[in-house]
Amino acid sequence: MKKILELISEEMQEAFEKAGYEKTLGRVTISNRPDLCEYQCNGAMAGAKQYKKAPIMIANEVAANLSDSKVFANVEAVMPGFLNLKVKESFLTSYLQEMNDTDKFGLEKPHKPMKVVVDYGGANIAKPLHVGHIRSAVIGESVKRILRYCGHEVIGDVHLGDWGLQMGLVITELKERQPDLVYFDESYEGEYPTEAPFTISELEELYPTASKKSKEDAEYKAKAMDVTFKMQSGVRGYRAVWKHILNVSVADLKKNYGSLNVDFDLWKGESDVHDLIPSMVKYMKDNGYAHESEGALVVDVKEDTDTKEIPPCMILKSDGAALYNTTDLATIMDRMENIGPDKIIYLTDKRQELYFEQVFRCARKTKLVKPETELKWIGFGTMNGKDGKPFKTRDGGVMRLEVLIKETTDEMYRKITENHDLPKEEAEETAKLIALSALKYGDLSNQASKDYIFDIERFTSFEGDTGPYILYTIVRIKSILNKYKEQGGDIAGLKLMDAQNASEKDLMMQLVGFNTVMESACEEVAPHKICAYIYDLANAFNRFYHETKILSEENEERKSGLIALLVLTKNVLETCIDVLGFSAPDRM
Ligand code: ARG
Repeated sequence: MKKILELISEEMQEAFEKAGYEKTLGRVTISNRPDLCEYQCNGAMAGAKQYKKAPIMIANEVAANLSDSKVFANVEAVMPGFLNLKVKESFLTSYLQEMNDTDKFGLEKPHKPMKVVVDYGGANIAKPLHVGHIRSAVIGESVKRILRYCGHEVIGDVHLGDWGLQMGLVITELKERQPDLVYFDESYEGEYPTEAPFTISELEELYPTASKKSKEDAEYKAKAMDVTFKMQSGVRGYRAVWKHILNVSVADLKKNYGSLNVDFDLWKGESDVHDLIPSMVKYMKDNGYAHESEGALVVDVKEDTDTKEIPPCMILKSDGAALYNTTDLATIMDRMENIGPDKIIYLTDKRQELYFEQVFRCARKTKLVKPETELKWIGFGTMNGKDGKPFKTRDGGVMRLEVLIKETTDEMYRKITENHDLPKEEAEETAKLIALSALKYGDLSNQASKDYIFDIERFTSFEGDTGPYILYTIVRIKSILNKYKEQGGDIAGLKLMDAQNASEKDLMMQLVGFNTVMESACEEVAPHKICAYIYDLANAFNRFYHETKILSEENEERKSGLIALLVLTKNVLETCIDVLGFSAPDRM
């Protein structure tokens, strides 16, 4: 379906043409004076010079051509030559009816559907997920869903940090504590146990202990580096422990991401490309891309136009070890070979900006990607506490994701059971859904690159620009629809009717913007645009609701038209929250 502004502009362009002016002058925009009009056209001003005529004369001629327009209820030419526009109720109704009857509310398929890899989540194995990872998971999940909804083929990959020193540290600490484990007996040739020698909580305790020790004790650190090297180079016992760590962690991560309503198509990690590194290095050397510098192997990525220093991309350290870079480049190579994406989108915090600049330049220079392959990095800001510093627990520690979810859910449970008595189980389920909306909307409603303040009181409020407010609006509609059904009404196949008051028209004007907003959120990879849209839509709905009789409306035809409008509003809101990654309960 064409976008509403396209249709309105077409009507205006015809009127310009009919009056003898160039068609292109008839471009219409949303009014920047909503007190005066709904839309506006400034074409007469733009054409004045070319036609050597006063803009108001042009505007008057154009307006005269629109007196019996199907689109405009009112076209007013005002000094010095603006065209102030109001659309007809019937025009909105027919647009909305078509939107209602069309797949995806009339959102058109992309001209060129793309295959896109979204690299998000990025959890590190053996370390618990903490709030720093929440943004990557929440924003990435939404980006994936928006692109998919808009018709692209999208593959989400968690890209685990599963190959670094942290793994060596955990294994070292395990070895210190249980040196007799069969994994550490280098002469052992049998099968290793299938059961891990630790639980997730033991594992989570091993890493911080080891990390602390390695900072204080150089010898311990050297041991950990040696173990990391052995693990990476394939020493059987170390690999077997590593695999246990991976399995135990991934099971726990799946649970945690699950409670965030985040899921990945691929659970790949840095380790998956380890075996590709030697051939990639050889390729870079053979083609003269990489050269030695102070013992290390690097690719120069600076360009003449740079205004700041861009250091070379290091491929191998002087001891031959691979780096974070190396695995990212090998992953690009792997993705190009096995997936063949048109675009790869990465989500990490802002601090990795220079890093991704280097990696992308290196990937282009070394032709790991095609010239037309898009590499996009989205750097997000920090989630801060009310003190403006990175969010911490009350005792100053790093807040774990599951604790954060639990605290928000408890708060929601308290709120919803305060005034209502819902059965306990339902209250718990509902609290989970609302808490998720609070956390996700609180994050997504900010432009990703900005820092934001995590304010649990504000986020969990049922009023204002919050997730719970959006859910509350949906639940309100659901409850009216249920009552309508209880009264014997059928909500399927109802026809919309023309708006009869200003707030109803305003609600309709919000609804017609759906395809425009969804498309621009997709093109600009900007979930916050969808949040802003549903906040306006929810406000428009609630104003309409307060000013309009719905269930008590006596005219049955009018009533069914109103119900049709409610159904459409609900469906649009639910589609939007679904791409944001949360959902609404039936009541709350
Ligand atoms: N594991 C990394 C971290 O915690 C994030 C990974 C981001 N993705 C990537 N392809 N580098 O910082």
